[in-house]
Amino acid sequence: MVHATPFLLVLSLAMLASALSARKCTLTGRWTNDLGSNMTIMAVNEKGEFLGSYHTAVTASGNEIKVSPLQGSQHRTNKDSQATFGFTVNWSFSDSVTVFTGQCFVDEDGKEVLRTMWLLRSNVDSIKDDWKATMVGTNVFTRLRTKKE
Ligand code: BTN
Repeated sequence: MVHATPFLLVLSLAMLASALSARKCTLTGRWTNDLGSNMTIMAVNEKGEFLGSYHTAVTASGNEIKVSPLQGSQHRTNKDSQATFGFTVNWSFSDSVTVFTGQCFVDEDGKEVLRTMWLLRSNVDSIKDDWKATMVGTNVFTRLRTKKE
């Protein structure tokens, strides 16, 4: 009986570790990033394709920010618990386009997180300005929680 306690402790830790590692990261839902931008990803279909909307907190355009559509795809629906994905935001208030690519992870605390990298292409008047038309960066997205949650 004296030896049962450490055994049970090890067993519970092993079960907890296995439960955390087995958790799946799902793209569907509402997300917020490190800039304060919010996005909603609708259902992912059987081909891994999805639609959604993006509300950026910042803009390089100087225009009034409006919610913009996004479309993307994830690598393998339901086969990979931490899928790679990409999506494009076609900005409705500027003539720019941003492409994001990333991976949906379950972190050490069991929380879902999207690690992404993006390219923002701005419209320039001349090919001579092409060199300054693309920005690059990273964004980290976590689930957007309502106050009730
Ligand atoms: C524009 O300025 O022309 C459109 C908005 C661009 C917002 C960028 S996209 C990459 C980065 N991540 C965000 O959430 N917002 C900025």
